[in-house]
Amino acid sequence: MSFFEHRNGVLHAEGVALPAIAERFGTPTYVYSRAAIVSAFRGYRDALAGRKALVCYAMKANSNLAVLDLLAREGAGFDIVSGGELARVIAAGGDPGKVVFSGVGKSEAEIEAALKAGILCFNMESVPELERIDAVAKRLGVKAPVSVRVNPDVDAKTHPYISTGLKDNKFGVAYEHTLDLYRDAARRPNIEVVGIDCHIGSQITEVAPYVDAAERVLALVDTLEREGIVLHHIDFGGGLGITYDDETPPATGELIRALVERVEAHGHGGKTLMFEPGRSIVGNAGLLVTKVEFMKRGETRNFAIVDAAMNDLARPAMYEAWHGVQAIAAPAGAGERVDIVGPVCESGDWLARDRELALAPGDLIAVMSAGAYGMSMASNYNTRGRAAEVMVDGDAVHLIRRRETPADLFALESRLPG
Ligand code: LLP
Repeated sequence: MSFFEHRNGVLHAEGVALPAIAERFGTPTYVYSRAAIVSAFRGYRDALAGRKALVCYAMKANSNLAVLDLLAREGAGFDIVSGGELARVIAAGGDPGKVVFSGVGKSEAEIEAALKAGILCFNMESVPELERIDAVAKRLGVKAPVSVRVNPDVDAKTHPYISTGLKDNKFGVAYEHTLDLYRDAARRPNIEVVGIDCHIGSQITEVAPYVDAAERVLALVDTLEREGIVLHHIDFGGGLGITYDDETPPATGELIRALVERVEAHGHGGKTLMFEPGRSIVGNAGLLVTKVEFMKRGETRNFAIVDAAMNDLARPAMYEAWHGVQAIAAPAGAGERVDIVGPVCESGDWLARDRELALAPGDLIAVMSAGAYGMSMASNYNTRGRAAEVMVDGDAVHLIRRRETPADLFALESRLPG
């Protein structure tokens, strides 16, 4: 079911026509569908119904407080990677007791804040990190809950920049060193071993790499239990892909059924199963509305210069990512091949290339599938204020982040004294 559809020739988000949003809030504006986010989240929740499970939304994908609030109300936990993200969870009314803390470089201050907030688990990635968590826990007189992020060395068959489960990635603990790290952790009085986790990459469109990784992780769980190290949860990470163009990722339920089958085959069906999805919750629940400023005829290519740019949506510039582009109102004339580019002073500032569209200055277009890693990766390059964000809920539109003004952008800066 699509939450963004053309009705009477005009693209809508749920019950709201996008030109009305552009009129009221300006452009560029990120538009999210509340129902789309809830529906994607429930895909996980329903597939896990009846078992002990926790879905920790990987908030790096989209960390707007309204998105977090919505998911917290649905029962989500959160996968965080910084003290800043923990502060957002708390500000949004999320439960720190449902937070897992991932990432290779947790600072002492971040570990301390997480222990004080009472998070569910640190997903540890190295021996020095164990030592650091142990030292902070000792100083605070508490026991730190940990899990080891295993690098299962499987190929997730995705873009090299977002593949994380191969030997030469910086992520996770090498498979052959995992048992030693668990033994070390289990001996420390201020550490409590609670789980195991892995995350093999992002925008994964096949079940097989997940099952391969699960087999390796479950074999470790078996060995640990034989040694008397009993885990409370198994976390299979995030990474499930979405359809940007013609990809056909498995449905959430299909992925979960395949993993549950392996878990049960190993006799671990009674443990809490966890996931850390980001993109598959919010990716197709958002789009970016932008306005055509100029049509420019080049020597070899034609350009539609729009008011959104690489600072708003970095994925095309960073990964040559493909996003669908749709005219918001029915085109008047015949289409032509155009590149959709922004006003930033970089050749890499493009949002889409070689698309057949009939555009004129003033037209609105939607860059699709922009709900994940869109606004959360936006910057202020070229002193461009970041876009507004709105959440549509049926016929209602809520402004969930106002557009930044130039004064916002230099509010933290100072001129020299004297
Ligand atoms: N868990 C961990 C430990 C992660 O590192 C990530 C994403 C996730 C979960 C969520 O993965 P997802 O379900 O969203 O695939 N900026 C890139 C994606 C980077 C993903 C980083 N890690 C992009 O725009 O494609």
